[in-house]
Amino acid sequence: CPRLTTDFIGHSIHYYTTVSSTNNEAKRLANEGCPEGTIVLAEEQKVGRGRLARGWFSPFAKGIWLSVVLRPKFPPQEAPKCTLLAAVAMARAVRATGVNCGIKWPNDILYNGKKLVGILTEMNAEMDAINYVVIGMGINVNTDASEFPEELRDIATSLSSVLGRTVSRTDLLIALLHELELLYTQAGEEGFSPILAEWRKLSATLGQPVDVFGITRCFSGIALDIDEDGALIVQTEAGLEKVIAGDVSVRAK
Ligand code: BTN
Repeated sequence: CPRLTTDFIGHSIHYYTTVSSTNNEAKRLANEGCPEGTIVLAEEQKVGRGRLARGWFSPFAKGIWLSVVLRPKFPPQEAPKCTLLAAVAMARAVRATGVNCGIKWPNDILYNGKKLVGILTEMNAEMDAINYVVIGMGINVNTDASEFPEELRDIATSLSSVLGRTVSRTDLLIALLHELELLYTQAGEEGFSPILAEWRKLSATLGQPVDVFGITRCFSGIALDIDEDGALIVQTEAGLEKVIAGDVSVRAK
């Protein structure tokens, strides 16, 4: 039976049966000065939040609805790299269950084009220093295909649907927290380059034709690479475009 043997991530656990959003709780705790590595877990979220002001379907006891508080020493502009780091940690933990997942830029974990995991990173910085980064992660573990709301059925899936068996949420959580701590410690000691290199290998986006729905405009092209800040570089007819935020859909060939 696996045990949590991390040095700091998950040493303080705030567990809820029901919560509005674990990210909201984590931000409240972080503002009150909770230690780095504090995690918030819930069986169910009433108002689970996704990127770009979307919701996140979080049914009771079916998934891992988790937020982790980090207090990195690097400058605020490097915080987006925490999201890529979390995606790599997540891909490692999910792959260890036997699901051959990929990462869609910036941080969705997909299987066969359907979403298994979503990540929502929120930051609080003052002056030139990060106060905290909250990494919110939602993993569809044992959700039945029929349980997803109609509008999600074609775009979401769960580990149990892919594997045809239920998956231990505890084992998966422990594996994830270990991978997160390993990568976060590595980033602090050696920088992000090895993590970005692993992200590239796990990517389901690079080399693909993509439609980009940016904050201010939309365009199409080929996803070429990510730069050292984690921005997506897209080759368009007009030249190279850098995508810092927004949504990308990989076009069917
Ligand atoms: C996305 O894909 O748009 C991101 C989804 C993030 C969902 C997780 S579930 C735990 C944490 N709490 C939230 O309210 N959201 C994140």
